[in-house]
Amino acid sequence: MATKRFLTGITTTGTPHLGNYVGAIRPAVEASRRDDTENFYFLADYHALIKCHDPAQVMQSRLEIAATWLAMGLDPERAVFYRQTDVPEIMELTWILTCMSAKGLMNRAHAYKAAVQDNVDSGASDPDKGVTMGLFNYPILMAADILMFKATHVPVGRDQIQHLEMTRDIAQRFNHHYKDLLVLPEVVVSEEEDAVLTGLDGRKMSKSYGNTIPLFEPTKKLRKLVMKIVTNSQEPGEAKSTEGSSLFEIYRAFASAEETAEFAQAYADGIGWGDAKQRLYEKLESVLAEPRERYLDLISKPAEMEDIMQAGAVKARAHSVPLIEAMREAVGIASFKP
Ligand code: TRP
Repeated sequence: MATKRFLTGITTTGTPHLGNYVGAIRPAVEASRRDDTENFYFLADYHALIKCHDPAQVMQSRLEIAATWLAMGLDPERAVFYRQTDVPEIMELTWILTCMSAKGLMNRAHAYKAAVQDNVDSGASDPDKGVTMGLFNYPILMAADILMFKATHVPVGRDQIQHLEMTRDIAQRFNHHYKDLLVLPEVVVSEEEDAVLTGLDGRKMSKSYGNTIPLFEPTKKLRKLVMKIVTNSQEPGEAKSTEGSSLFEIYRAFASAEETAEFAQAYADGIGWGDAKQRLYEKLESVLAEPRERYLDLISKPAEMEDIMQAGAVKARAHSVPLIEAMREAVGIASFKP
C-alpha cells in the first residue's frame, strides 16, 4: 500500500496559463505517474465562488481547467480527479470543523487580514467592507478538503503555508476533543510550485497582472504573445545576458538542459531578440501542439468530461462517506438506530 497520499486543489477561476502548467500541473501529472504515492487532485469550485460571482465564468473555468489537466496527461485511472462540489461530505465536514475552529484563528488568516488592511488604508468606515463569510471561512473549507481524504502531503505555493498550519490546528482540536480520526497533513512547498514564471512584462506571470500566456492559445495568437515579451534595447550581435530575461526563463521551463545550454550560448553570441522569440515560440509550439488538439477535443465534448468527473466523484466518495459517518458518530449526530 502506498504510504504517502498527496492532495491538492486548483481554484477554478480564469484560464490556465504557462505559469500554472510549470508550477502546478506538470509536477502533479509527473507525481501521478509514480507508483509509491496516491494522488488526489480536485477542482476547488466551491472556492471559486468566493472570488467570482459570474456564473458563466465559473462554469467556463471549471471546464477549461478540467480539460487542461486531462489534456496535459493526467490519467484519471492513476489519480483521483474530482470536483469538490461533487463530494457533499466536504460541506458537512466544513460545518463540523467550523464548530471546532477558533474565530480568532480565522481573524489571523493572511487573505482576510489583507482585505481588512486595504479597507483601513482606504479610510473605509467598516474594516470588513466587501468581506464575505466565504472569504472569512476559506481556511476551514480548505481544511475540510484536505482532512476529508486523510492527505499526508499537500503540495502548494508558499502563500498557502498558513492554511496548512490552520488545517493541522483544526484537526488537532477535533482529534483531541472527540476522537483521533483526522490525519495531520504536511505541507510540501515544491520548488516548481514556488518558482514563478515571469510574464510578458517581466513581473510574475499572473492573471491579476494581465501578463499571462494562456496554455492553449491558437498557434498564431501564441506567436503574437511571445513577440510581446518585454526585452531590452540591445541590438542583434550584442552579447546578451540570460539573467533576468523572461524570454530565457520561459524557454528553460519548457526545454531540455541541453537545449537550454544552446540557447544560453545563442544569447552570448548575440542572437537578435526577434530570432530569440521565434525560437521560444517554436519550442512552445512543439510542446503544446499535441495537448492543444486533445484539449480542443475535450472542450468540445462536455458530456464526456462530465462522465469523467462523475467517475472521479465515485472514487472520491468511497473515502469521504466512511469518514463522515465516523465523524458524525464521534460528534453525536449519528443515526438513532444502534
Ligand atoms: N487555496 C488553494 C489555492 O488558492 C486551492 C485549494 C483549495 C487547495 N483547497 C485546497 C490546495 C486543498 C491544496 C489543498 O491555491
